[in-house]
Amino acid sequence: MPSSSASAPGKIILFGEHAVVYGQPAIAIPVDQVRATATTTDNTLGIVRIIAPDINLQCNLDQLDTNNPLFIVIDGVKNLNRTNILPACDIHITSTIPIASGMGSGAAVSVAVIRSLSSFLGLSLSDDAISALAFEAEKRYHGSPSGIDNTVISYNKPVYFVRGEQPVIFLPKISLQLVIASTGIESPTISVVQDVRARWQEKPDEYNALFEKIGEICKTAYSILREEGCDITTLGLLMTQNHRLLQQIDVSCPELDSMVSAALNAGALGAKLSGAGRGGNLIALVPPEGVSNIVEALRKTGAKNIICSQFSSHSVAG
Ligand code: MEV
Repeated sequence: MPSSSASAPGKIILFGEHAVVYGQPAIAIPVDQVRATATTTDNTLGIVRIIAPDINLQCNLDQLDTNNPLFIVIDGVKNLNRTNILPACDIHITSTIPIASGMGSGAAVSVAVIRSLSSFLGLSLSDDAISALAFEAEKRYHGSPSGIDNTVISYNKPVYFVRGEQPVIFLPKISLQLVIASTGIESPTISVVQDVRARWQEKPDEYNALFEKIGEICKTAYSILREEGCDITTLGLLMTQNHRLLQQIDVSCPELDSMVSAALNAGALGAKLSGAGRGGNLIALVPPEGVSNIVEALRKTGAKNIICSQFSSHSVAG
């Protein structure tokens, strides 16, 4: 069989992380500069072998725990295959998406593996089917995920997402110049999501009110993004307001807060943490002429890795 390669992008959440787990809307967009890639090729060993040098993994499928996210997606593709069996093959996985940093590395690996293996088998899967299978694996990474990561990464388009509803794919009416800066602190989503749940159980009224405020910000941002002549200044302010609410939920950290202040002082229109928080990445919405100042300010504040991403409706059209 001919070999088959597929890749999937990283993602950032523009508005609504955490609140989305509790039924509020969130907006996420794909980030093409970082990607997970999977290549499936024939082997003559009679086994399905997984080779993922980035995480020092080389093993046979049957050596993986059945709860392992890789097992879940590979076995899931097998079950969708007409014959219900997998031919001997190597699945080689690499990724440039930083792990545990809020950029959807787990979901992107799942989507890349599903796409590569299904196309190797000659199986045509819809984005919906790919997202649904990647969601099964997400449950192992995240415990109680909303489903936003697998959705935005499977569709590779911006999504307005409400848990349990059909995601709305949309194209912002203007280009968004974003700076994505890493704190260098790994922060597994599952532990932050679990901790927020414990706090919500302790103080449900307080946390529900914070989630609702985040939901309102997200709804306003969604209408702005779809308006001709989109009000980018207000969009930036909403981003910073979203960050302040995430601070109140207690998912920020001193490094993220210093980077948000540094970006705003250097001229960013808005800035916030993106993803689970307590590390991972900050995103800043910046005027195109201000990129270099903001990048420099973030570097001085200790940002470890910086991606400048211009997100336009043209880059995702079609
Ligand atoms: C993780 O990218 C976003 C969170 O809201 C968790 C989730 O939605 O599953 C923190």
